[in-house]
Amino acid sequence: MKPAIKSVGFMPFVIKEHLVPRGRITLPGDKSIAHRALIISALSRGKTIIKNFPVSGDLLATAAALSALGVKVSCGNKQVLVQGRSLCGLLEPKKPLFVADSGTTIRLLLGALAGQDFTATLTAGKYLSARPMARVNIPLRMMGACITAKKKDGDEYPPIVISGNKLKGISYRLPVASAQVKGALLLAGLYAKGKTRVIEPVRTRDHTERMLKAFGAGITVSGNSIILNPGRDLISPGEIYIPGDISSAAFFLVLASIIPGSNVIIRSVGLNPGRSGIVNVLKRMGAKIKAVYPKNGPGGFEPAADLAVTGSRLKAAVVSPNEIPTLVDELPVLMVAACFTRGRTVIKGAGELRVKETDRINSMSWNLKRMGADIRVLKSGARESIVINGIGRLRGAKLKSFGDHRTAMSMVVAALAAEGRSEIDDVSCINKSFPGFIATLNTLLK
Ligand code: S3P
Repeated sequence: MKPAIKSVGFMPFVIKEHLVPRGRITLPGDKSIAHRALIISALSRGKTIIKNFPVSGDLLATAAALSALGVKVSCGNKQVLVQGRSLCGLLEPKKPLFVADSGTTIRLLLGALAGQDFTATLTAGKYLSARPMARVNIPLRMMGACITAKKKDGDEYPPIVISGNKLKGISYRLPVASAQVKGALLLAGLYAKGKTRVIEPVRTRDHTERMLKAFGAGITVSGNSIILNPGRDLISPGEIYIPGDISSAAFFLVLASIIPGSNVIIRSVGLNPGRSGIVNVLKRMGAKIKAVYPKNGPGGFEPAADLAVTGSRLKAAVVSPNEIPTLVDELPVLMVAACFTRGRTVIKGAGELRVKETDRINSMSWNLKRMGADIRVLKSGARESIVINGIGRLRGAKLKSFGDHRTAMSMVVAALAAEGRSEIDDVSCINKSFPGFIATLNTLLK
């Protein structure tokens, strides 16, 4: 049988043949959780087997950086074995650590490196080199870290040189809600004298907190405040199971919701409350999504469920600024869903989309406008809102990924549901998070 979507070299053609997604899929493990699993295992005592490990560009960047720091990381079939070196066992890297375009890698590693007794240089690819780093460098310096970075227009960018130092715990209120910055400060807190307290303006994904707890760290959470008490070694629990990535599941949830007659089951998807905003908002839009929590699932310290989704008529919704961190990576595909409603969807406080792999407000608006969508961006002070007037359909067009994996996958979803033929310039960037995306999609479109 011919695959429904063909990719010719870097030039994919997305062909609309009134295809209806049907079937069951299992997705690779959650990227955010996997970064933490690798880094925290590396800093622990003992060996850790990480199961359902998602092999993708970003995770390979973290694994390569850890190897260069003396950590043994071996890759098997969908699992990885990490030999922990304990908190103070990392080795000075012989060369700069190249972290490709992985924002989570660079920000979490900065936290882990701040209290070491050596210097490391972190270099990045073209996209990450344009992403702001002052948000993590500033509080790490307050803890005592010595960090220099490229300075431009009032912010800081890679390459970054970090010299480990004696750290002290601080109490820090994050100016921007960011799980990456929070994670970096908690990792640095493991090396600090005195406790580290991070206060979030809005709760973000708590993968670092859960993972540190599973490794025996002294961590307590009270409302929006997280306190890390140093002084304990991290001890490996031996095995970690990573649930399916909700951010990858989002493309299938939207695709199945907007195509009539769809019926898709996604097995074991991570439903951390800090990540499941896409399910909540799609349900508010009238999507038919049912979560079934398996009685005998693989378990672990992250909630997971099978998600069953069928096609439905979606209606417009308002997304509030407080919800943004719970679905920040899913906003591009949510914008696609909004185009298939008949009504005015408003996504409030979406400005952080401008500093992701690319400016996703621009990349998504550019593409969706070409497909006939009515999209505007409203500014009120520092806050930006995306307003989409859905007309229930899109038309095929020539589209661009802008080198951004989530823009590329969102546009594949839009193209499949649109009328007529679409072409996307380059989808090789999908490998950053989900190399098997097109193959998984083809299993549903037989
Ligand atoms: C991530 C947090 C989010 C998210 C990113 C992964 C993480 O970024 O957009 O893809 O793993 O902590 P911010 O921390 O910048 O909000």
